[in-house]
Amino acid sequence: MSSLPRWPALVAATALVLPLVAPSPASAVPGSTATASEQRTEVVLRGARLFALRQLARSEHRLAAGRYPTVAPERRWRTSGTNGWLAGFYPGRLWLAYESSGRSVWARRAAARQAPLVVRQDDATTHDLGFLLQTSFGRGAALTGSRADAGVTVRAAAALASRWVPQVGAIRSWGGPEGQVTVIVDSLVNLELLFAAARLAGRPEWHEMARQHALTTATQHVRPDGSTTHVVRFDETTGEPVWKGTVQGLADNSTWARGQAWAVHGFTGAYAATSDQRLLDAARRTADFAVRNLPPDGVPYWDYDARGTGDGTRDTTAAAILSAGLLDLARLDPDPERRSSYARAGLQVLRTLAGPGYLAKGTGSPAVLLHGHHDATYADAGVTYGDHYFLQALLRAQLLPSTRPVLRPADVRTSGRATTADLGSTRTVSGVSVRWRDGASRSTRMGITTSRDGRTWAAVRGAVSSGRTDGFETYDVRDDLARYVRIVVRGEGAVRALRVRG
Ligand code: GLY
Repeated sequence: MSSLPRWPALVAATALVLPLVAPSPASAVPGSTATASEQRTEVVLRGARLFALRQLARSEHRLAAGRYPTVAPERRWRTSGTNGWLAGFYPGRLWLAYESSGRSVWARRAAARQAPLVVRQDDATTHDLGFLLQTSFGRGAALTGSRADAGVTVRAAAALASRWVPQVGAIRSWGGPEGQVTVIVDSLVNLELLFAAARLAGRPEWHEMARQHALTTATQHVRPDGSTTHVVRFDETTGEPVWKGTVQGLADNSTWARGQAWAVHGFTGAYAATSDQRLLDAARRTADFAVRNLPPDGVPYWDYDARGTGDGTRDTTAAAILSAGLLDLARLDPDPERRSSYARAGLQVLRTLAGPGYLAKGTGSPAVLLHGHHDATYADAGVTYGDHYFLQALLRAQLLPSTRPVLRPADVRTSGRATTADLGSTRTVSGVSVRWRDGASRSTRMGITTSRDGRTWAAVRGAVSSGRTDGFETYDVRDDLARYVRIVVRGEGAVRALRVRG
C-alpha cells in the first residue's frame, strides 16, 4: 500500500462552510494530489461496490419470498428461513445498497425482505439478535427514521437483555454445561443492538449492560498478545472463568480468524458508543495482533494458527469483518499515527478482497466474495455475512479523509434543497465530500448531479449519509468533466459544508 497523505492539514486548510461565495477562481490545493496507487485503489473499490450491487440485484430476482441466502459453494445460494443466525444479513445488505446508492428501490426491497424476521423479535433463546435484527431493522431505523423498525429493534434488545447474567457481567451467548455461563467472542457484535436500542428507548441500563459485557470480554477473552479465545465458560454462581477454549477454531489455544475479526469490529463499536478507554485499548490490541499476523495479501487463514499446518484455507469472511473494523478504528482512534496505520491496513485488506482471486466477478457465483470459511462443511464458499461486511467496509472507507485534491469553487450557493458549486471552469471531478447537518445522528438521502454549462444536468450518483459522523463523507464518482456540481437533498437534512474533489 502507498503511504497515506497529509490530510489533517488539508482538512483544516480547506473547510468550506455554507453559505459561502468564494471570490477566487477554482483551483486545486497544492500538494494534495492523490498518488497513482490511491487513485487505482479508488477505481478498484468503486468497481467492487458496483459489482456488489449487481450481484444483490441478481439474488433479489432469484430468491423466493421468505428465503434468505446462507452459503454459495457453487453457482447457487443455499437458503434458510427465518431460523438460525444468518437471515438478517440479506436485508442488511439491501439496506447497505440503499445507503450506497440512495435509490429507494433498495429500501423497499430491504423492508419487504426483513418483514418475516419480525417473528424473531422476542426470541430470548439466542444471543444472535444483533446479527438478525440490528443489521436489518436497526439499520432501517437509522437510515429512514422508521418508527416501526425502531420498535422491532427495541423489542429485540429487551429479549437480548433478558440473557444478562449479573454475576458474570455478561450476556449469555450459549446454553452450556449445567451451572455454567458460556460467552463467545462473537457476542461483541450483538452489542450494537443494545447500544442503539438504549438510545431509541431511553434505557441506559441496556447501554451499561453492553459496556460491561464488552469489558468482561476484554478481560477474559483477549490474551496478553492481543489474540483472542473463542469461548469462555464461567461458574454461574461465582462468576469466575472455569474453562477457555474453542468450538469453531483449530485448537483451544489457537486464534480463530473470524473470532479475532469479531473482536476488532465489536470492541471498536463498543468504544464508539461509550468512549471507554479500556475498550479502545482492547480494540487496538486485537487489531494490532490481526494486522501483525496477516499473510502479505491481507486475507487471513481461517485460523491464525492454521498457517503451516497443511490446511491453507483462507477466510474472506474474517477479512471483510476485520476490514470494516479497522476502517472504523481508523476514524475513531484519537492517535493520528494509529489512524493512518489502521486505514492503511483496512484498505489493503479491502483492496485485496476487491481484486482477482477473491471477488467473484466472472465466476458464476451469486456471491460477491469467494473463499469464505463458514464452517467445516462449507470451508470454501461465498457466505452471506462475508458479503455483508465487505459492503459495510466499502461504505466505511467513505468516512476516511479523501486523498483527492479539493477544487476551490468560484461560487457556492444553497437554494432550497440544492447546493451548487460553480468551479468557474470545466474541471475533472472525481468525488464530492459533504458534511451534513446532524451528521452523527441522522442519515440524509441525496443525489449528485453535474453540468458543464449550467443548463443540462446529469445524475451522477446518489447515497444516504451514514448518520455516524460530523466529519466529511466522501462519495466517489467516475472521473468526468464538469463546471457545476450540485447536491440535492431528498427528504430531511441539509448540507453544512461541501468540497468538490479533483
Ligand atoms: N457466531 C458467528 C460465527 O460463527 O461467526
